Amino acid sequence: MAIYALWNNKGGVGKSYLTFQIAAEYAVTHPNKKVLVLDLCPQANSSSMLLGGIERGESHLDEIHSQASKKTISGYVESRILSPYVNPRSGANFYISPNQYNSQLPNNLYLVPGDEQLEIQASRVASAAMPGPTDAWRIVHTWISDLIEDVRVSLNTEDLTVFIDCNPSFSIYTELAMSAADRLLIPFSADGSSKRAVRAVLALIYGITRQPGQQQSEFHINSQRYRMSVPKIYMYIGNRLTQMNQSSATAFKTVVNEIGEEIYTAWTNNPNLFSIHPTGANPPNSRRAFRHMFQYEVNDANSASVVSGAEGIPISKLTAGNKQVLGKTVRVNQSQLDRQVPNIQALIHSIE
Ligand SMILES: Nc1ncnc2c1ncn2[C@@H]1O[C@H](COP(=O)(O)OP(=O)(O)OP(=O)(O)O)[C@@H](O)[C@H]1O
Ligand SMILES: [Mg+2]
Repeated sequence: MAIYALWNNKGGVGKSYLTFQIAAEYAVTHPNKKVLVLDLCPQANSSSMLLGGIERGESHLDEIHSQASKKTISGYVESRILSPYVNPRSGANFYISPNQYNSQLPNNLYLVPGDEQLEIQASRVASAAMPGPTDAWRIVHTWISDLIEDVRVSLNTEDLTVFIDCNPSFSIYTELAMSAADRLLIPFSADGSSKRAVRAVLALIYGITRQPGQQQSEFHINSQRYRMSVPKIYMYIGNRLTQMNQSSATAFKTVVNEIGEEIYTAWTNNPNLFSIHPTGANPPNSRRAFRHMFQYEVNDANSASVVSGAEGIPISKLTAGNKQVLGKTVRVNQSQLDRQVPNIQALIHSIE
């Protein structure tokens, strides 16, 4: 049982795209395991891809959202707002099989769809977490763990692998995701603000501040107060890194190295914040070994990513040729697929 959250405090770095690719590929690679995607982002991008992409996926989502007792994350959160401190064990009512909507996906993959209503519910969730009954904060921060446990029991498996797609902001539902996850995947892009965003991740979850006396996040303070676990850093993933030309390649390298250095410093000060993998591996004893264990790079998939996301076809199932996306022709080259498919498969190989 492993629960991965994909989070970075920065938007547009590939959290949803990678959730889609990783969950789909992981489910294909591990046909005997059950895989659950929890979409904790109100934009529901990964749900839309899993349900068939821009056109079909969106219309399936509309249909799911319009049902009275809707099978979405907001459906579950509503059941918890009504019963915040007593677990109603209602989670099994809120997951679906994307395979019934999108034949490109294997049938061992499950989804609690995202829902824009989550944004509206956020303030009521936050109120429930306010000091009221002793432990209110702690109990509300176990809601998503409770949901996962309900789904696990309903799927009748001991070995559920969960991927949580998060919203960039550190909102209450992102906090709930962090309290539920045991491993953290941090996608980042190669631009100037990425380093700040990664620092924000380290500060908000682990209380790693840069100046002494700097204020710490409520989440960090309360996680410590209630002895609640937070996810361990499993991997930081440079996404959309392309060697287009020499100068951009060098610029990307600089950003990746700077972020790597930031995370390496966290490792040297707090190795217990990291998830050593694969199981049984020795902790890294050099910068190089550290990078080998914790750093990964995903190339820019160019038009293959456009077609993959728009049609809800995982990259490994995509074929080369001209494709129609929203009435426009988009060409997918075999050479793109030859580069991208092994790139994603090697990433899956590192995920236990
Ligand atoms: N490796 C990649 N190659 C090509 N395009 C990519 C890649 N990763 C992500 N993208 C594209 O970049 C855009 C942003 O990605 P995505 O929506 O996954 O980011 P995000 O971090 O989830 O954003 P948000 O913070 O808004 O939720 C999308 O159009 C996505 O298809
Ligand atoms: Mg997203």
